[in-house]
Amino acid sequence: MNRFYEKTSTSPVNIAVIKYWGKRDTTLILPTNSSLSVTLSQEHLQSKTTIRASPDFKKTRLWLNGIEEIDIDNNKRLQNCLRETRNLRKEYENKLSKEGVKTVIPLSEFNVHICSENNFPTAAGLASSASGFACLTYTLAQLYELPVSTTELSKIARQGSGSACRSLFGGFVAWELGSQNDGSDSQAIQIAPKDHWPELEALICIVSDAKKGISSTEGMQNTVATSPLLQHRIEKVVPERMKSITEAILNRDFQKFAEITMRDSNQFHAVCLDTYPPIFYLNDVSRAIIRVITEYNSSNEFKKLKAAYTFDAGPNAVIYTLRENIPEIINIIAKYFPGNVENDKDYFSDPDQLFAGNRFGENPLPQGFNSQIIPIFPPGSVKQILNTRIGDGPQTLNGEKDGMLNEEGLPK
Ligand code: DP6
Repeated sequence: MNRFYEKTSTSPVNIAVIKYWGKRDTTLILPTNSSLSVTLSQEHLQSKTTIRASPDFKKTRLWLNGIEEIDIDNNKRLQNCLRETRNLRKEYENKLSKEGVKTVIPLSEFNVHICSENNFPTAAGLASSASGFACLTYTLAQLYELPVSTTELSKIARQGSGSACRSLFGGFVAWELGSQNDGSDSQAIQIAPKDHWPELEALICIVSDAKKGISSTEGMQNTVATSPLLQHRIEKVVPERMKSITEAILNRDFQKFAEITMRDSNQFHAVCLDTYPPIFYLNDVSRAIIRVITEYNSSNEFKKLKAAYTFDAGPNAVIYTLRENIPEIINIIAKYFPGNVENDKDYFSDPDQLFAGNRFGENPLPQGFNSQIIPIFPPGSVKQILNTRIGDGPQTLNGEKDGMLNEEGLPK
């Protein structure tokens, strides 16, 4: 008999346009409002996870980016995902046995070894918990051959990290707040697949940040406890925006999509400021990017919104725009926030070399753009500009070739 069972898969990062901020239940991870995100291509940003189950493993172990996490019994979020998927596996094994299947393997009783890696540096300050917990949940479901839908799985990933539930789908994804106390209706659904709006792309501006801010998990509960503005956001603003942005996405209406995206990022940072004591995630560079994008949107002939910024719990900017505007926006960002000359090759990542040969930062600004809007920042204020597209949900890889564990079940 085979002594071990193994699966490897990858999962994407998602960036919300309607932000999740606040929990009504911190154990089950139930949010105070619905949220909506765009899943980004795994070409640049992804988590990869191998999980092996074996009757020979003495205990369950976890390696994150090559380093073993020692105290996993106290990692409640990991334990939530393991417990929930094992319970489903157990039910499935019982069902198969009842049906008379003789060769049911009791995977639910085996310990597992989990090896997980991100293809992007955690130090870049890009959220890795969403792709990480989505990948953990998805890979466990594959290993256990769980006969459940992706939406069903999203309720498990949610208990690892709220935003992880949205990374189980590609394209445009809503996390429905739900009303049940047990979380049975707080789940992710796909609004539209990635091919629905292929012209929509993202530019991620990695902004230098010396000090680490307060974590999302802690920050959002301080907001729940102290911000009166959050109540207005929960009751009035988000329900309306969820409807309008869903419509905007379905109609590929960039004007509406961009306005709601920027307003919601602004309001999220406003409730952070309304928290007592206040929380600041944006820095001077982030605010300068907001001014540049605002000028870009208002200085063109028809005052058409051509780009939308959004910021999570950190200073990095994500700019959503249509593909045709990408060279113009990169030129503007590179002009005001030049790269560090020494490691210039890292400054700009272009997935398909489409814009190769373009001297970004040296081309003229668009007509009507007020060049005095902000000063030119010191080199390295933006460390990297990453151009990426909308992407698919988790992918299963070809077991042996892609597996990250060796014969003994240790990282290769
Ligand atoms: C600002 O999902 O990281 O990125 O549920 O405590 O793990 P936990 O929080 P997390 O919060 C993400 C907050 C956000 C907005 C968003 O992604 O919707």
